[in-house]
Amino acid sequence: MRQQLLRIAKEFGTPCYVYFADRLDLQASKLKAAVPAGWKIYYAMKANPHPEIVQAFRRHGFGIEIASGGELAAALAAGVPAREIVFAGPGKTDKELAAALAAGIHMLHAESFGELQRIDGIAHRLGKIAGVALRVNPLHTPGQAGLQMGGASRQFGIDAEQLTADKLAGLEQFDHVEVKGVHVYAASQVLDKSEFLAHARQAFASAGRLANHVGLEYVNIGGGIGIPYAKSEQEFDTAGLASALDTISKGQALGDAQVCLESGRYLAGPAGFFLAQVVDTKTSRGKNYAILDGGMNCFLRPALTKTAHPSFNLLERGPAETILTGPLCTPLDVLGTLDTIALPGDTIAFGQAGAYGFTESMPLFLSHDLPCEVLVEHGPARVITARRPGHGFAQPLP
Ligand SMILES: Cc1ncc(COP(=O)(O)O)c(C=O)c1O
Repeated sequence: MRQQLLRIAKEFGTPCYVYFADRLDLQASKLKAAVPAGWKIYYAMKANPHPEIVQAFRRHGFGIEIASGGELAAALAAGVPAREIVFAGPGKTDKELAAALAAGIHMLHAESFGELQRIDGIAHRLGKIAGVALRVNPLHTPGQAGLQMGGASRQFGIDAEQLTADKLAGLEQFDHVEVKGVHVYAASQVLDKSEFLAHARQAFASAGRLANHVGLEYVNIGGGIGIPYAKSEQEFDTAGLASALDTISKGQALGDAQVCLESGRYLAGPAGFFLAQVVDTKTSRGKNYAILDGGMNCFLRPALTKTAHPSFNLLERGPAETILTGPLCTPLDVLGTLDTIALPGDTIAFGQAGAYGFTESMPLFLSHDLPCEVLVEHGPARVITARRPGHGFAQPLP
Protein backbone atom coordinates (compact mmCIF):
# COMPACT_ATOMS: atom_id res chain seq x y z
CA MET A 1 0.00 0.00 0.00
CA ARG A 2 2.80 2.45 0.93
CA GLN A 3 4.54 1.86 -2.40
CA GLN A 4 1.32 2.27 -4.36
CA LEU A 5 0.46 5.52 -2.56
CA LEU A 6 4.00 6.76 -3.11
CA ARG A 7 3.74 6.07 -6.84
CA ILE A 8 0.41 7.92 -6.98
CA ALA A 9 1.85 10.91 -5.10
CA LYS A 10 4.77 11.02 -7.55
CA GLU A 11 2.59 10.64 -10.62
CA PHE A 12 -0.26 13.00 -9.72
CA GLY A 13 1.35 15.35 -7.21
CA THR A 14 0.14 16.47 -3.80
CA PRO A 15 -2.09 17.42 -2.08
CA CYS A 16 -4.23 14.62 -3.38
CA TYR A 17 -7.10 12.33 -2.42
CA VAL A 18 -6.88 8.67 -3.46
CA TYR A 19 -9.85 6.29 -3.43
CA PHE A 20 -9.69 2.52 -3.83
CA ALA A 21 -12.67 1.04 -5.67
CA ASP A 22 -12.16 -2.43 -4.21
CA ARG A 23 -12.50 -0.99 -0.71
CA LEU A 24 -15.72 0.83 -1.65
CA ASP A 25 -17.05 -2.54 -2.84
CA LEU A 26 -15.87 -4.32 0.29
CA GLN A 27 -17.60 -1.79 2.57
CA ALA A 28 -20.78 -2.07 0.50
CA SER A 29 -20.74 -5.86 0.73
CA LYS A 30 -20.07 -5.78 4.48
CA LEU A 31 -22.99 -3.39 5.05
CA LYS A 32 -25.33 -5.48 2.88
CA ALA A 33 -24.43 -8.55 4.93
CA ALA A 34 -24.98 -6.61 8.16
CA VAL A 35 -28.64 -5.76 7.53
CA PRO A 36 -31.61 -8.09 7.07
CA ALA A 37 -32.39 -9.30 3.54
CA GLY A 38 -34.86 -7.00 1.81
CA TRP A 39 -33.75 -3.83 3.58
CA LYS A 40 -32.83 -0.97 1.31
CA ILE A 41 -29.54 0.87 1.83
CA TYR A 42 -29.17 4.54 0.91
CA TYR A 43 -25.72 6.04 0.36
CA ALA A 44 -25.60 9.48 2.05
CA MET A 45 -23.73 11.34 -0.66
CA LYS A 46 -22.73 14.17 1.68
CA ALA A 47 -19.94 11.81 2.78
CA ASN A 48 -18.38 11.97 -0.68
CA PRO A 49 -20.43 13.30 -3.58
CA HIS A 50 -17.98 12.45 -6.36
CA PRO A 51 -19.99 10.88 -9.22
CA GLU A 52 -17.57 7.92 -9.39
CA ILE A 53 -18.21 7.17 -5.73
CA VAL A 54 -21.97 7.61 -6.12
CA GLN A 55 -21.94 5.28 -9.13
CA ALA A 56 -19.86 2.69 -7.27
CA PHE A 57 -22.62 2.39 -4.66
CA ARG A 58 -25.37 2.50 -7.27
CA ARG A 59 -23.81 -0.66 -8.75
CA HIS A 60 -24.59 -2.31 -5.41
CA GLY A 61 -28.23 -1.29 -5.79
CA PHE A 62 -28.11 1.43 -3.14
CA GLY A 63 -30.40 4.43 -3.29
CA ILE A 64 -28.96 7.91 -2.74
CA GLU A 65 -29.75 10.20 0.17
CA ILE A 66 -29.27 13.89 -0.64
CA ALA A 67 -29.27 16.96 1.58
CA SER A 68 -29.38 19.90 -0.83
CA GLY A 69 -30.43 21.07 -4.26
CA GLY A 70 -26.78 20.85 -5.30
CA GLU A 71 -26.67 17.19 -4.32
CA LEU A 72 -29.93 16.63 -6.20
CA ALA A 73 -28.40 18.06 -9.36
CA ALA A 74 -25.18 16.08 -8.83
CA ALA A 75 -27.05 12.80 -8.23
CA LEU A 76 -29.21 13.26 -11.32
CA ALA A 77 -26.13 14.21 -13.37
CA ALA A 78 -24.43 11.03 -12.13
CA GLY A 79 -27.31 9.07 -13.65
CA VAL A 80 -29.21 8.26 -10.45
CA PRO A 81 -32.91 7.77 -11.27
CA ALA A 82 -35.09 10.20 -9.32
CA ARG A 83 -37.09 7.32 -7.79
CA GLU A 84 -33.85 6.18 -6.08
CA ILE A 85 -33.35 9.52 -4.31
CA VAL A 86 -34.55 10.64 -0.88
CA PHE A 87 -34.02 14.16 0.46
CA ALA A 88 -33.37 14.92 4.15
CA GLY A 89 -31.88 17.88 5.97
CA PRO A 90 -33.01 21.10 7.63
CA GLY A 91 -33.50 24.38 5.79
CA LYS A 92 -34.62 23.10 2.41
CA THR A 93 -35.57 26.17 0.40
CA ASP A 94 -38.76 26.40 -1.66
CA LYS A 95 -36.58 26.24 -4.77
CA GLU A 96 -34.93 23.02 -3.61
CA LEU A 97 -38.24 21.45 -2.63
CA ALA A 98 -39.77 22.40 -5.98
CA ALA A 99 -36.78 20.95 -7.88
CA ALA A 100 -37.04 17.69 -5.94
CA LEU A 101 -40.80 17.45 -6.54
CA ALA A 102 -40.42 18.30 -10.22
CA ALA A 103 -37.72 15.64 -10.60
CA GLY A 104 -40.03 13.09 -8.96
CA ILE A 105 -37.75 11.86 -6.17
CA HIS A 106 -38.92 8.99 -4.00
CA MET A 107 -39.31 10.70 -0.64
CA LEU A 108 -38.98 14.12 0.93
CA HIS A 109 -38.13 14.00 4.62
CA ALA A 110 -40.00 16.77 6.43
CA GLU A 111 -37.89 18.22 9.23
CA SER A 112 -40.64 20.38 10.80
CA PHE A 113 -44.37 21.11 10.64
CA GLY A 114 -43.50 24.35 8.85
CA GLU A 115 -41.64 22.46 6.16
CA LEU A 116 -44.58 20.09 5.78
CA GLN A 117 -46.82 23.07 5.16
CA ARG A 118 -44.42 24.51 2.59
CA ILE A 119 -44.16 21.16 0.80
CA ASP A 120 -47.97 21.05 0.61
CA GLY A 121 -48.09 24.52 -0.93
CA ILE A 122 -45.33 23.84 -3.45
CA ALA A 123 -46.82 20.48 -4.45
CA HIS A 124 -50.18 22.22 -4.91
CA ARG A 125 -48.58 24.77 -7.24
CA LEU A 126 -46.88 22.01 -9.23
CA GLY A 127 -50.03 19.88 -9.35
CA LYS A 128 -48.31 17.03 -7.53
CA ILE A 129 -48.83 14.87 -4.48
CA ALA A 130 -45.62 14.83 -2.45
CA GLY A 131 -44.58 11.57 -0.82
CA VAL A 132 -43.26 12.60 2.58
CA ALA A 133 -41.51 10.90 5.49
CA LEU A 134 -41.66 12.67 8.84
CA ARG A 135 -38.21 12.98 10.36
CA VAL A 136 -38.52 12.31 14.05
CA ASN A 137 -36.07 13.68 16.60
CA PRO A 138 -35.99 10.77 19.05
CA LEU A 139 -35.83 11.08 22.82
CA HIS A 140 -32.49 9.32 23.12
CA THR A 141 -29.34 9.24 21.07
CA PRO A 142 -26.47 6.73 21.06
CA GLY A 143 -24.40 7.94 24.02
CA GLN A 144 -20.92 7.30 22.64
CA ALA A 145 -21.57 8.67 19.17
CA GLY A 146 -19.09 11.19 17.81
CA LEU A 147 -21.72 13.51 16.35
CA GLN A 148 -25.15 13.63 17.92
CA MET A 149 -28.09 14.87 15.88
CA GLY A 150 -31.03 13.69 17.89
CA GLY A 151 -32.11 13.07 21.44
CA ALA A 152 -32.00 16.65 22.70
CA SER A 153 -33.17 20.04 21.47
CA ARG A 154 -32.17 20.00 17.78
CA GLN A 155 -32.74 21.65 14.43
CA PHE A 156 -33.20 18.16 12.97
CA GLY A 157 -36.61 16.53 12.72
CA ILE A 158 -39.78 16.89 14.77
CA ASP A 159 -39.51 16.05 18.47
CA ALA A 160 -41.05 12.62 19.07
CA GLU A 161 -43.28 14.00 21.84
CA GLN A 162 -44.73 16.63 19.47
CA LEU A 163 -46.19 13.86 17.33
CA THR A 164 -49.33 13.56 19.42
CA ALA A 165 -52.40 11.66 18.24
CA ASP A 166 -54.05 15.03 17.44
CA LYS A 167 -51.12 16.20 15.35
CA LEU A 168 -50.96 12.91 13.50
CA ALA A 169 -54.71 12.97 12.84
CA GLY A 170 -54.24 16.55 11.54
CA LEU A 171 -51.91 15.34 8.79
CA GLU A 172 -55.02 14.70 6.72
CA GLN A 173 -55.50 18.45 6.27
CA PHE A 174 -52.72 18.45 3.67
CA ASP A 175 -54.24 17.83 0.25
CA HIS A 176 -50.95 17.64 -1.63
CA VAL A 177 -48.85 15.76 0.87
CA GLU A 178 -49.10 12.06 1.50
CA VAL A 179 -47.27 11.21 4.70
CA LYS A 180 -46.21 7.63 4.15
CA GLY A 181 -42.85 7.37 5.80
CA VAL A 182 -40.79 7.94 8.88
CA HIS A 183 -37.10 8.78 9.26
CA VAL A 184 -35.15 8.68 12.50
CA TYR A 185 -31.51 9.68 12.24
CA ALA A 186 -29.92 10.26 15.64
CA ALA A 187 -26.15 10.29 15.35
CA SER A 188 -23.07 9.77 13.24
CA GLN A 189 -19.90 7.83 14.11
CA VAL A 190 -21.61 5.20 16.27
CA LEU A 191 -19.13 2.41 17.05
CA ASP A 192 -21.04 0.53 19.71
CA LYS A 193 -23.42 -2.12 18.38
CA SER A 194 -25.65 -2.15 21.46
CA GLU A 195 -26.11 1.63 21.19
CA PHE A 196 -26.97 1.26 17.53
CA LEU A 197 -29.53 -1.41 18.36
CA ALA A 198 -31.01 0.79 21.10
CA HIS A 199 -31.40 3.50 18.46
CA ALA A 200 -33.05 1.01 16.08
CA ARG A 201 -35.54 0.05 18.82
CA GLN A 202 -36.68 3.64 19.29
CA ALA A 203 -36.78 4.23 15.52
CA PHE A 204 -39.05 1.24 15.02
CA ALA A 205 -41.17 2.33 17.99
CA SER A 206 -41.69 5.69 16.25
CA ALA A 207 -42.58 3.86 13.06
CA GLY A 208 -45.05 1.70 14.94
CA ARG A 209 -46.75 4.78 16.41
CA LEU A 210 -47.00 6.44 13.00
CA ALA A 211 -48.33 3.25 11.42
CA ASN A 212 -51.46 3.67 13.57
CA HIS A 213 -52.26 6.91 11.73
CA VAL A 214 -50.90 6.73 8.18
CA GLY A 215 -50.36 4.05 5.56
CA LEU A 216 -46.69 3.48 6.19
CA GLU A 217 -44.64 2.51 3.12
CA TYR A 218 -41.16 3.68 4.10
CA VAL A 219 -39.30 3.29 7.39
CA ASN A 220 -35.81 4.79 7.37
CA ILE A 221 -34.03 4.07 10.64
CA GLY A 222 -31.10 6.35 9.78
CA GLY A 223 -27.69 4.91 10.31
CA GLY A 224 -24.52 6.52 11.49
CA ILE A 225 -22.43 3.36 11.73
CA GLY A 226 -18.93 4.59 12.46
CA ILE A 227 -15.34 3.71 11.57
CA PRO A 228 -12.26 3.70 13.83
CA TYR A 229 -10.07 6.80 13.61
CA ALA A 230 -8.01 6.58 16.82
CA LYS A 231 -5.80 3.55 17.61
CA SER A 232 -7.97 2.95 20.68
CA GLU A 233 -11.16 2.61 18.60
CA GLN A 234 -12.44 -0.76 17.39
CA GLU A 235 -14.24 -1.54 14.12
CA PHE A 236 -18.04 -1.58 14.45
CA ASP A 237 -18.79 -5.25 15.13
CA THR A 238 -21.45 -6.28 12.60
CA ALA A 239 -21.66 -9.91 13.81
CA GLY A 240 -25.27 -10.76 14.59
CA LEU A 241 -26.49 -7.29 13.60
CA ALA A 242 -28.78 -8.48 10.81
CA SER A 243 -30.66 -10.96 12.98
CA ALA A 244 -30.92 -8.49 15.88
CA LEU A 245 -32.32 -5.81 13.54
CA ASP A 246 -34.71 -8.33 12.02
CA THR A 247 -36.08 -9.22 15.46
CA ILE A 248 -36.47 -5.56 16.41
CA SER A 249 -38.24 -4.67 13.16
CA LYS A 250 -40.64 -7.57 13.51
CA GLY A 251 -41.64 -6.28 16.94
CA GLN A 252 -43.75 -3.63 15.19
CA ALA A 253 -46.69 -4.14 12.86
CA LEU A 254 -45.33 -2.32 9.81
CA GLY A 255 -47.09 -4.28 7.07
CA ASP A 256 -45.26 -4.09 3.76
CA ALA A 257 -43.31 -0.92 4.56
CA GLN A 258 -39.85 -0.84 3.00
CA VAL A 259 -37.28 -0.67 5.78
CA CYS A 260 -34.18 1.38 4.97
CA LEU A 261 -30.86 2.33 6.47
CA GLU A 262 -28.52 5.09 5.32
CA SER A 263 -24.77 5.29 5.50
CA GLY A 264 -22.01 7.57 4.31
CA ARG A 265 -18.94 7.31 6.51
CA TYR A 266 -18.91 3.50 6.86
CA LEU A 267 -19.21 3.06 3.09
CA ALA A 268 -16.78 5.68 1.79
CA GLY A 269 -14.43 6.51 4.70
CA PRO A 270 -12.10 3.49 4.69
CA ALA A 271 -11.62 3.66 0.91
CA GLY A 272 -9.83 7.01 0.89
CA PHE A 273 -6.44 8.51 1.74
CA PHE A 274 -5.36 12.13 1.81
CA LEU A 275 -1.75 12.59 0.69
CA ALA A 276 0.35 15.69 1.38
CA GLN A 277 4.02 16.42 1.01
CA VAL A 278 6.32 17.83 3.68
CA VAL A 279 7.44 21.29 2.56
CA ASP A 280 9.41 22.29 5.63
CA THR A 281 10.42 20.90 9.01
CA LYS A 282 11.47 22.68 12.16
CA THR A 283 11.86 22.32 15.88
CA SER A 284 10.13 24.87 18.05
CA ARG A 285 10.72 24.88 21.80
CA GLY A 286 11.38 21.18 21.89
CA LYS A 287 8.63 20.05 19.48
CA ASN A 288 9.12 18.75 15.94
CA TYR A 289 6.96 20.13 13.17
CA ALA A 290 6.40 19.01 9.59
CA ILE A 291 4.61 21.60 7.48
CA LEU A 292 2.63 20.05 4.64
CA ASP A 293 1.54 21.40 1.28
CA GLY A 294 -2.11 20.85 2.19
CA GLY A 295 -3.85 21.56 5.49
CA MET A 296 -7.38 22.33 6.58
CA ASN A 297 -7.99 23.97 3.21
CA CYS A 298 -7.86 20.42 1.76
CA PHE A 299 -8.61 18.25 4.78
CA LEU A 300 -10.50 20.10 7.48
CA ARG A 301 -11.98 17.19 9.36
CA PRO A 302 -9.17 16.56 11.91
CA ALA A 303 -9.23 20.20 13.07
CA LEU A 304 -13.01 20.57 12.79
CA THR A 305 -13.91 17.50 14.82
CA LYS A 306 -10.69 17.34 16.86
CA THR A 307 -10.24 13.77 15.67
CA ALA A 308 -6.84 12.61 14.49
CA HIS A 309 -6.97 10.35 11.47
CA PRO A 310 -4.52 7.47 11.21
CA SER A 311 -1.43 8.97 9.59
CA PHE A 312 1.90 7.57 8.41
CA ASN A 313 4.98 8.57 6.51
CA LEU A 314 5.15 6.73 3.19
CA LEU A 315 8.89 6.40 3.73
CA GLU A 316 10.23 4.28 6.59
CA ARG A 317 11.73 6.72 9.11
CA GLY A 318 12.97 6.47 12.68
CA PRO A 319 10.74 7.21 15.68
CA ALA A 320 10.09 10.78 16.89
CA GLU A 321 6.91 12.68 17.63
CA THR A 322 6.19 15.10 14.77
CA ILE A 323 3.32 17.56 14.68
CA LEU A 324 1.74 17.75 11.22
CA THR A 325 0.48 21.16 10.18
CA GLY A 326 -0.79 22.65 6.97
CA PRO A 327 0.46 25.83 5.31
CA LEU A 328 -2.33 28.14 6.50
CA CYS A 329 -1.79 31.18 8.69
CA THR A 330 -3.83 29.92 11.59
CA PRO A 331 -2.84 27.87 14.62
CA LEU A 332 -5.95 25.78 13.94
CA ASP A 333 -4.24 24.22 10.91
CA VAL A 334 -3.03 21.04 12.63
CA LEU A 335 -3.74 17.70 10.98
CA GLY A 336 -2.36 15.32 13.58
CA THR A 337 0.80 13.84 15.01
CA LEU A 338 3.15 11.36 13.44
CA ASP A 339 5.17 8.92 15.53
CA THR A 340 8.10 9.06 13.12
CA ILE A 341 10.50 11.63 11.76
CA ALA A 342 9.39 13.50 8.62
CA LEU A 343 11.84 15.15 6.23
CA PRO A 344 11.19 17.72 3.51
CA GLY A 345 9.94 15.89 0.41
CA ASP A 346 8.42 12.98 2.36
CA THR A 347 4.81 12.17 1.67
CA ILE A 348 2.38 11.75 4.55
CA ALA A 349 -0.80 9.67 4.17
CA PHE A 350 -3.96 10.12 6.24
CA GLY A 351 -6.32 7.15 6.28
CA GLN A 352 -10.12 6.92 6.70
CA ALA A 353 -10.31 10.01 4.50
CA GLY A 354 -12.81 8.83 1.88
CA ALA A 355 -15.76 10.37 3.77
CA TYR A 356 -16.08 13.98 4.89
CA GLY A 357 -12.69 14.74 3.37
CA PHE A 358 -12.38 17.06 0.39
CA THR A 359 -15.90 18.48 0.34
CA GLU A 360 -16.01 19.08 4.10
CA SER A 361 -12.93 21.32 3.84
CA MET A 362 -12.41 25.07 3.36
CA PRO A 363 -10.62 25.16 0.01
CA LEU A 364 -10.89 28.90 -0.58
CA PHE A 365 -8.95 30.01 2.48
CA LEU A 366 -5.52 31.38 1.44
CA SER A 367 -6.04 30.63 -2.26
CA HIS A 368 -3.81 27.57 -2.47
CA ASP A 369 -4.33 25.18 -5.37
CA LEU A 370 -7.01 22.58 -4.62
CA PRO A 371 -6.19 18.89 -4.28
CA CYS A 372 -6.79 16.49 -7.14
CA GLU A 373 -8.76 13.28 -6.66
CA VAL A 374 -7.54 9.94 -7.96
CA LEU A 375 -9.41 6.65 -8.28
CA VAL A 376 -7.70 3.27 -8.24
CA GLU A 377 -9.94 0.83 -10.05
CA HIS A 378 -9.02 -2.02 -12.37
CA GLY A 379 -5.99 -0.83 -14.30
CA PRO A 380 -3.91 2.27 -13.75
CA ALA A 381 -4.94 4.95 -11.27
CA ARG A 382 -6.71 7.87 -12.92
CA VAL A 383 -7.53 11.44 -12.03
CA ILE A 384 -11.25 11.88 -11.36
CA THR A 385 -11.00 15.54 -10.30
CA ALA A 386 -8.23 17.66 -11.77
CA ARG A 387 -6.25 19.97 -9.53
CA ARG A 388 -7.76 23.45 -9.71
CA PRO A 389 -5.82 26.67 -9.22
CA GLY A 390 -6.55 28.47 -5.98
CA HIS A 391 -6.04 32.00 -7.25
CA GLY A 392 -8.88 34.11 -8.45
CA PHE A 393 -11.69 33.15 -6.09
CA ALA A 394 -11.95 36.68 -4.78
CA GLN A 395 -11.70 38.48 -8.13
CA PRO A 396 -14.28 41.17 -8.90
CA LEU A 397 -16.92 40.21 -11.43
CA PRO A 398 -15.91 41.20 -14.99
C1 LIG B 1 -29.84 12.58 7.73
C2 LIG B 1 -28.50 11.97 7.59
N1 LIG B 1 -28.40 10.79 6.97
C3 LIG B 1 -27.20 10.18 6.79
C4 LIG B 1 -26.05 10.76 7.26
C5 LIG B 1 -24.76 10.05 7.04
O1 LIG B 1 -24.19 9.67 8.23
P1 LIG B 1 -22.90 8.74 8.27
O2 LIG B 1 -21.93 9.32 7.32
O3 LIG B 1 -22.47 8.80 9.67
O4 LIG B 1 -23.31 7.37 7.85
C6 LIG B 1 -26.10 11.99 7.94
C7 LIG B 1 -24.89 12.63 8.44
O5 LIG B 1 -24.83 13.73 8.85
C8 LIG B 1 -27.37 12.61 8.09
O6 LIG B 1 -27.48 13.79 8.71
